[in-house]
Order: sequence, then structure tokens, then C-alpha cells
Amino acid sequence: MMQARIVLISLLGLSTDAISDNVSLHENGKTLYQTLCQVCHSQPTTGTQRVAPPMFAVQKHYHRQHKSATDFINHLSQFITQPSKENSLMPGAVQKFGLMPQLNISLSEAKAVATYLYHNPERAPGHQRQANVSNPVIHQQDTADPLKTSKTHALAAKAELGKNLLTAINQKGTIGALGFCHENAMNLTQQVAEQQGVEIKRVSDKNRNPNNAANQSELTYIQTTKHQLSQGKSPEAKLLRQDNRDTVYIPITTQAMCLQCHGQPDIHMTPQTLNELKRLYPDDQAIGYDLNQLRGIWVISQATTAAAQPANDITSDENN
Ligand code: HEC
Ligand code: HEC
Repeated sequence: MMQARIVLISLLGLSTDAISDNVSLHENGKTLYQTLCQVCHSQPTTGTQRVAPPMFAVQKHYHRQHKSATDFINHLSQFITQPSKENSLMPGAVQKFGLMPQLNISLSEAKAVATYLYHNPERAPGHQRQANVSNPVIHQQDTADPLKTSKTHALAAKAELGKNLLTAINQKGTIGALGFCHENAMNLTQQVAEQQGVEIKRVSDKNRNPNNAANQSELTYIQTTKHQLSQGKSPEAKLLRQDNRDTVYIPITTQAMCLQCHGQPDIHMTPQTLNELKRLYPDDQAIGYDLNQLRGIWVISQATTAAAQPANDITSDENN
């Protein structure tokens, strides 16, 4: 990898929060909702199984519990940044579907979504025709900031993968889901990428799929990010501009639900899962993780747009 042409300009003060504040809160909330939430919370099309409670039901619970907008928005945004049983208003849903996976969105993004949801109650089916809003394309011109758009692309890919992973685990258990990931993980990320007109891949220094090995530049970023995590800092996304392409690295950290397939063999994983992994991935390196460690990164790449900023490398605070 030729690194010489990459000029590094760290804009450490530039957080995604600061960027989001420039965008109209409502439009931002709506786009985030359509991109990141509907994949699990919309009415399933016929033949597909529900993986989460429909949003109108979620809104009803939150409205019933919270009379003021502030309480509604605070509670809902807290829950989606850090889903927990203690903070849940829908224990029945947690029981039925399992706890909502963590999405790694920033608090300001969560507040934008929560504000949108407070003001835009969805109706129960039968009362309203379903708008066709699944998998909306994120338009580049919506925001001139490549780091922010890339982050949204990554989150969209993650939500799509997350939904399919949850469905597979619910329907088939861990082993069944393993087979599913094996066959579909690549396709799913490619699908999202095509919809969004960008290249998306997941790579790792300890990859499971041989095609997901990180290259030299990615490895350098991974090492830096691991170091940050080990010092208790939040990992930071990074933008590289080279040969008229913007490439963004976004950290992927582990959470509880990942450990059944990526955790420590004697603590988190069953012998059956280990056997199946060995069969599917003889050279698997992606086990032995604990909570909140760097599992890999999203690499999102697209042609540089004229509207984008002239910086060659922008680093932003991540809120993981
Ligand atoms: C990968 C699938 C998935 C995605 C994506 C997802 N959710 Fe969820 N969500 C769930 C599941 C499963 C539940 C039910 C279990 C629970 O309540 O934790 C849930 C429950 C919730 C609840 C109720 C929490 C409670 O128990 O009190 C809220 C609020 C919520 N989601 C909001 C959102 C918002 C807003 C987004 C988008 C930013 C989102 N969800 C994206 C799967 C998802
Ligand atoms: C049901 C088992 C299962 C669960 C749960 C699971 N994974 Fe994976 N993961 C896999 C499999 C299988 C692959 C290889 C997919 C392929 O062949 O492309 C994989 C690949 C990956 C990759 C791509 C790099 C590589 O090693 O090939 C990343 C990054 C990743 N997983 C992160 C996560 C994170 C983060 C979680 C939790 C949110 C998670 N996984 C949960 C089974 C799982």
C-alpha cells in the first residue's frame, strides 16, 4: 500500500455530534429512522417473520409511560444507545425477540430519531396504508460530509445484517445462524452497497472468512484503534482521501450477542458451535474475543464528490 500520498490531517474536535447539529433535526431523525430502524421495526412483508415489535406498539408504550416530550425522548434515546433489560418498557418484547442489539449510534443521532418518533406516531396496520420505505437510498447530496454519510452507510449495512442475524438465531439457533452467516454475510453487505452506490466490506486482523483479511493500511488503523480502546478511549472513525476516492474506516466492537460465535471457547461458546466453525472455516481466527473489543472494521469507499471537504484525512470521535 502506497501511503506516502496520504496526508494526515487530524481534526480531532470534529465529532459526528457536531456534524449532526448542522442538519435539520427532523429530516435527520426521519432519515435515520428509515435507514436504521425500519429494517427491523416495520411490518414484515408476507412470508417473512417479525424480528421486533412494530414501531406503533413501541411508540404507544413510550407515550403511555411518558407524558412530556422530554421524558419520552430521553428514555427512548437512552434505550437505543444502550439497550438493557433494566431500561426496557417492553419486557414482553425482550422475552419474545431477545434484547435489541446495540446499534452504536451517537446520543445526538438517537435524540434526532426519538424526536422524530415522538412527533410522528405510526398507526396500527389496517388504519393506514404502509408507506413503501424499506431500504431507502441515502442520497449523497443530503449531506456534504463523507464521514457522516459513510457512517450512515455502515449503520444501514449493520442494521440489515443485524436483522437477518437475529431472524436466523431466533429461527435456527446459533448453529443454524452460523450457516446463514456463512452463506449470506457477503451477499447482504453487497446488496446494501449496491443500493447505496458505494463499496462496503468488513475486514479484520483476525478474520474468519479468508476474503475478509485486512490490508496493510487497514491493519495500521486497526492497531491504532485497538490501542485507543485499551486505554479506555472511544474508537474513532477515519477518512482517507486518495486517488479521487474517499475511504472511511469505522470500528466494529463486540457486544454480548456476538460472543456466542466470536467469544472465548471455554466461556462463551458451545462445543457444537466450535465444531461447526471449524468445519466451515478451517482457518478461523475470529474467536477469543471479550466484550467491547475491536472485532474488525467497516471499509466504505466511494468516488470523492465535489461537495466534499478538501481535507485528506478526517478523524472523528466515535460514540461507541
Ligand atoms: C436488528 C434489529 C433492530 C434494529 C435495526 C432496531 N431495533 Fe429496536 N428493537 C429490536 C428488538 C428485537 C426489540 C425488542 C426487544 C427489546 O425491547 O429490547 C426492539 C425494541 C425497541 C424499542 C423498545 C425498547 C423497550 O423494550 O422499551 C425501542 C424504543 C426501539 N426498539 C427503537 C429502535 C430505533 C429507534 C431503532 C433505529 C435507530 C431501532 N430500534 C432499530 C430490534 C431492532
Ligand atoms: C451466529 C454466529 C455469529 C454471530 C452471533 C456473530 N457472528 Fe460475526 N461472523 C460469523 C460468521 C460465520 C462470519 C463469517 C461470514 C462470512 O463468511 O463472510 C462472521 C464474520 C464477521 C466479521 C467479518 C470479518 C471476518 O472475521 O470474517 C465481522 C466484523 C463480524 N463477524 C463481527 C460480528 C459482530 C460485531 C457480532 C455481534 C454484533 C457478530 N459478528 C455476531 C458468525 C457470527
